[in-house]
Amino acid sequence: MSGTPSSRPTSATRLSLSHITAQNETNLLGTVHGGVIMTLVDSVAGVVAARHSGGPAVTASMDEMTFLVPVRVGDVVHFSGQVNWTGRSSMEVGVRITADRWDSVGPQVHVASAYLVFVAVDAEGKPREVPQVVPETHEERRRLREAEIRRSHRLAKRAAIIASRNEAAAEVNTAPAAYEGAGD
Ligand SMILES: CC(C)(COP(=O)(O)OP(=O)(O)OC[C@H]1O[C@@H](n2cnc3c(N)ncnc32)[C@H](O)[C@@H]1OP(=O)(O)O)[C@@H](O)C(=O)NCCC(=O)NCCS
Repeated sequence: MSGTPSSRPTSATRLSLSHITAQNETNLLGTVHGGVIMTLVDSVAGVVAARHSGGPAVTASMDEMTFLVPVRVGDVVHFSGQVNWTGRSSMEVGVRITADRWDSVGPQVHVASAYLVFVAVDAEGKPREVPQVVPETHEERRRLREAEIRRSHRLAKRAAIIASRNEAAAEVNTAPAAYEGAGD
């Protein structure tokens, strides 16, 4: 995109969003549905990715998410997103989710952390280059190093599954099934 710099500090596009959970967001157990939290995570990460890349960006993947504590109706949930890592056209966005109990004053609890990969796309939906993220603090450098570890694990998992499918196809002499993600 014209006018987009070749690099941006992490802090330039960090985003915080707070949401008060409502009755219509609960699951059958009466706590907030995980999908509600995941939707907000994707929205926050999408804004961060679009701002960092200076244009549209699509969700390519979301790593597994572990919910550490339940979120209850009325709780104030905080989402803090930032770009952890950049490649050529992809970015890892991390979102930390914390909550304040609606009926008591106390420390915020850590609900979950999520890691998403966004790919910046052009008008035809094709990947385009993104500015490199520049971490400025110790914490931002730690996140960048850990994002590189997650990236190498994603690539290794993909390569191992393709190799396994090739091997299985060779045994029965058929074409290997294409690998398009964990659920296929
Ligand atoms: C994401 C998408 C643009 C990638 O297109 P592609 O032609 O496969 O792109 P490439 O293979 O050239 O990869 C481009 C980049 O994306 C990364 N990437 C692609 N698929 C990925 C995945 N599943 N997980 C993590 N990274 C991925 C590649 O590593 C590469 O990163 P780099 O440029 O930083 O090195 C394409 O698959 C797409 O449009 N998917 C649908 C996205 C969408 O609509 N999301 C909303 C869901 S409703």
